[in-house]
Amino acid sequence: MDRNFALEFVRVTEMAAIASARWMGRGDEKAADQAAVDAMRRMLNSVHFDGKVVIGEGERDEAPMLFIGEKVGTGGGPKLDLALDPLEGTSICARGGNNSIAVIAIAEEGKFLHAPDTYMEKIAVGGDAIGAIDLNRTPAENLKAIAKAKKKTIEELTVIILDRPRHADLIEEVRRAGCRIWLIGDGDVSAAIATCMPDSGVDVMMGTGGAPEGVIAAAALRCVGGDFQGRLKPRNQDEIERARRMGISDIDRVYKIMELADGKVMFCATGVTQGTFLNGVRFTSGGCTTHSVVMRSESGTIRHIEADHRFDRKPKF
Ligand code: FBP
Repeated sequence: MDRNFALEFVRVTEMAAIASARWMGRGDEKAADQAAVDAMRRMLNSVHFDGKVVIGEGERDEAPMLFIGEKVGTGGGPKLDLALDPLEGTSICARGGNNSIAVIAIAEEGKFLHAPDTYMEKIAVGGDAIGAIDLNRTPAENLKAIAKAKKKTIEELTVIILDRPRHADLIEEVRRAGCRIWLIGDGDVSAAIATCMPDSGVDVMMGTGGAPEGVIAAAALRCVGGDFQGRLKPRNQDEIERARRMGISDIDRVYKIMELADGKVMFCATGVTQGTFLNGVRFTSGGCTTHSVVMRSESGTIRHIEADHRFDRKPKF
């Protein structure tokens, strides 16, 4: 995969972030999501490649989505698969909270798991705990192994978990193990990436969130050098059937990071609202500033891009 695509795709997340950032704190999730989707689609269609969305977003909550199977790009050039979320953390943006991002992961054809839009149980850690996680073990067993790998006491681990009633037992078990907990309202892609950023203070991400977000997080962690596992958690027979139609026969299978995002992977994200590892969009007189990260699994380079945009010289904001 041509490394120059990284810069093409960061333009795409920048535009989605700018469009949705205009809706920050305005309490309108649909409008924020729609703005991000429209901007992302417009920019993607200006890139010279033959793209297919394999992980889209919105089926579960009927958001306006770039749908699974949608063809994007000019149609010529290399065949690439996309796992994307134009606005990851829609309600964060609508509330004006932290850590909403516009995100795209790119792989060669057939390298992403075609995950249905159900839930997924996940665990993510940074590079110093690669190989220490196993979703077939209990949370307490995983935390013990992670602490050992990171040469920390279990009490020194910080575990990030989505604040949801379904996580009551998990939270209880993590507390009993003695770990510190950081409960977040939304945005488990950012949370998974935070485990790989030493300055974030986060060691582990655990719990159940969206399966599409799981594939995107796995792609990011392939690039940044972390570890990730996921297991689908369909909520009903209908979701099980949907997973089967997408080619998944063993619903209880634990997917390792390479089974979620294989081959050469690129990952681009731009901050919409202020976050742990990305600044949000800041509007200036006649323009704005964006902060993005672009990563490639092949080189392991993590490139931070701060861009000043001038609205009078750009097509449409
Ligand atoms: P959106 O991008 O759809 O707003 O997802 C936000 C999010 O918090 C994800 O990060 C997470 O995986 C999922 O929602 C959790 O789902 P739920 O809100 O249904 O618990």
